[in-house]
Amino acid sequence: MLEEANKYLFQNYGRFPYFFERGEGCYLFDENGKKYLDMLSGIAVNILGYNHPKLTKAICEQASKIIHISNLFYIRPQIEVAKILSENSFGGKVFFCNSGAEANEALIKLVRRYFYDKGENRYEIITFEGSFHGRTLATVTATAQPKYHEGFYPLVEGFKYAKFNDIQSVESLITEKTAAILIELVQGEGGVNPADKDFIKQLYNLCKEKGILFTVDEVQTGIGRTGKLFAYQHFDIEPDIVSLAKGLGGGVPIGAIIAKEEIAKSFIPGTHASTFGGNYLSTVAAKVVLEEVLSDGFLERVNKVGEYLKESLKVFGYPVKGLGLMVGVDLPKEISAKEVMKKSLEKGLILGTAGENTLRFVPPLIITEKEVDEAVRILKEVL
Ligand SMILES: Cc1ncc(COP(=O)(O)O)c(C=O)c1O
Repeated sequence: MLEEANKYLFQNYGRFPYFFERGEGCYLFDENGKKYLDMLSGIAVNILGYNHPKLTKAICEQASKIIHISNLFYIRPQIEVAKILSENSFGGKVFFCNSGAEANEALIKLVRRYFYDKGENRYEIITFEGSFHGRTLATVTATAQPKYHEGFYPLVEGFKYAKFNDIQSVESLITEKTAAILIELVQGEGGVNPADKDFIKQLYNLCKEKGILFTVDEVQTGIGRTGKLFAYQHFDIEPDIVSLAKGLGGGVPIGAIIAKEEIAKSFIPGTHASTFGGNYLSTVAAKVVLEEVLSDGFLERVNKVGEYLKESLKVFGYPVKGLGLMVGVDLPKEISAKEVMKKSLEKGLILGTAGENTLRFVPPLIITEKEVDEAVRILKEVL
């Protein structure tokens, strides 16, 4: 099978040679029946774990009725999910797509269109070093990491890169053309780097003062990952637009942006669209996910287990950082995070890596303290 994979698939992923067959809760099982504790959850996607009874049932039932119908018609669960997202955020309206990159692409287009409609020539977006916003041409340009740009020039016009957590660096980039800032409040791929509260407050005030839109990439941090429904709720701010994906469908591909009403109205018919965006299957899944995450005690558990995970990981003596169940451990140069990931896999533990040399823990949000103990025990053996 590996030979066929090499022969028939693009070789654009650095894959590990494992074939998983099924999952249950926080565990995956490979084709030989070997069990693995999953602290990566499909890169911060499977927030309800595997084979969650309500999610599986809802998807199966919906598949037997309608999977997809297009946005030429109304889709009941799409409206219901939009209502939940709007009522549990800053109000506003919701547009659905299929992935994080698409959500950010929609966000970028909406920013431009909003200022176009206002008759203002503002289109520049400031993003941050170490960020990750996706792989389409505009979102990879927004991603302020040169390694993702190599070979893809010319990039899209209108992006500037500031230093993360450095307000002066943002100030120095602002011109009369600055339309928005786009920020991850905890940088994910960049190495699990939380933003400073003071920096965000200053940045927010600066944006308000200059009429710059404050937009937040919550593709990874959104839907309970950091212990609140949205990471921005940890900060004393109200964004103009947020983008979502990953956890929103619990594994079913879906992306979305929520935008304030006066901004959302710039997407009039014909300006932006998605064939699959918000179809029956994905929004039925998102509805179950949101109902679970918003159910009594769910987010409190995320915070509690997240704290427990952070505390437990301190035993190794390396810097531990993150928010909720988005946690990173910075390893010293002589221990390769990739190698630790490889060795952990052999011992039945699935971890991730991020940034320069950070171990990344983004488990299903249903994880328990007991499972955290198991992960730490295996990691101890590996390290
Ligand atoms: C913060 C952030 N934005 C955008 C993306 C891109 O999402 P997708 O891979 O679904 O296009 C990612 C993916 O890792 C992400 O972490």
